[in-house]
Amino acid sequence: MTAHAAGDPHQAGATRGAEPPAYPVGLRLSGRRTIVLGGGQVAQRRLPALIAAGADITLISPSATPSVEAMAEAGEITWQQRRYQEGDLADAWYVLISSSDPEANATASAEAERNRTWCVRSDDAEAATAWTPATGRCDDVTVAVLTGHDPRRSAALRDVIVEGLREGTLAAPHHRPRTADDAPRVHLVGGGPGDPDLITVRGRRLLAEADVVIADRLGPRDLLDELPPHVEVIDAAKIPYGRFMAQEAINQALIDHAKQGRTVVRLKGGDPFVFGRGMEEAQALAAEGIPCTVVPGISSTISVPGAAGIPVTHRGVAHEFTVVSGHVAPDDPRSLVDWEALARLRGTLVLLMAVERIGAIADALVAYGRSPETPVAIIQEGTMATQRRVDATLATVGTTAKAENVRPPAVIVIGDVVSVNPPQ
Ligand SMILES: C[S@@+](CC[C@H](N)C(=O)[O-])C[C@H]1O[C@@H](n2cnc3c(N)ncnc32)[C@H](O)[C@@H]1O
Repeated sequence: MTAHAAGDPHQAGATRGAEPPAYPVGLRLSGRRTIVLGGGQVAQRRLPALIAAGADITLISPSATPSVEAMAEAGEITWQQRRYQEGDLADAWYVLISSSDPEANATASAEAERNRTWCVRSDDAEAATAWTPATGRCDDVTVAVLTGHDPRRSAALRDVIVEGLREGTLAAPHHRPRTADDAPRVHLVGGGPGDPDLITVRGRRLLAEADVVIADRLGPRDLLDELPPHVEVIDAAKIPYGRFMAQEAINQALIDHAKQGRTVVRLKGGDPFVFGRGMEEAQALAAEGIPCTVVPGISSTISVPGAAGIPVTHRGVAHEFTVVSGHVAPDDPRSLVDWEALARLRGTLVLLMAVERIGAIADALVAYGRSPETPVAIIQEGTMATQRRVDATLATVGTTAKAENVRPPAVIVIGDVVSVNPPQ
């Protein structure tokens, strides 16, 4: 008997087609006596869901797998280390029979029948009064699939549905009317560096549930095409009021839509808290009493070099990497960066927003002592179809960037890791 067979009629050799379908139901087992006979692989697979349901579980079995034993040691189940005896099922709401003793299984099954207790059998699904569906969870949704005679199909269908829910390719809006007590829903979602496959599973799901999406110029913009027509997509780059008012206007848009009871996703490039002003938005929402969730994203700082075959650390080459914003030049009084200290480091420097000032930055690093021969790579539009890599040294990068017409967005990597060969 394989673990897959637990509770499924097909594996037990049931005849197809004749009997009526099972009646699906969700058992609320919290605090309710549940008996499991047998501590083998089937129990090991089924117990976590029973524990998660809060069932008051007694395992009756002379032996158990190490995992089941660990559940007993952790106090998640009560283990009576012995064989089944008549009367063990008294007062049980639900029974799972999965022992390797056919005689004990049949006797216990008969007791459950007499007691009118729903009973799943791993050895003989036809004799069982209940079948276990293929189940999966995604947030507050439980998916349970019973195909009756094809457990692999049940599991495959379950996988497709759960994966679709997790990825957001399968989505249904919440239809429960929102009440005054419902908190507004705002999600600050890190969308990753641009390739739509590099958003997190949670980010993609929340995107699929949104009523309003406020999207940055950077990030997985291709995903916006997949949104249903009723979703309002606001291009944050096009919000009026000019450059300095833009952030306040974005904050206000988040607040206004949330207050209207809409589910808002603020889709940002990379990670929301890496040069992303995510905390400013969270603070603006908090000031209005609006909570938000933050979904981390894959930051361009690591992923873009990686996509170009550059590890930001490498054994024997670099034991640290430092991420620096190059949005103001080293001699700019607004700069908060200690370029002299950075020049003394031997490890990797990763520069963001530095394309326009890379010549001045390279000059400063060399002036403060970093070798002019230090390798440099500029990766433009990393992870996207248009990705390109331009290599130089600290001595040449200013002129090379101009000659090659490098444009933002780009990540600039400085250090010996640039010369570590990528996998073929
Ligand atoms: C305002 S910062 C936002 C960074 C983002 N929060 C992150 O974690 O990646 C924007 C800068 O990130 C870098 N960047 C973001 N995505 C990029 C990509 N796909 N390719 C190259 N650089 C990228 C560029 O340096 C760009 O100017």
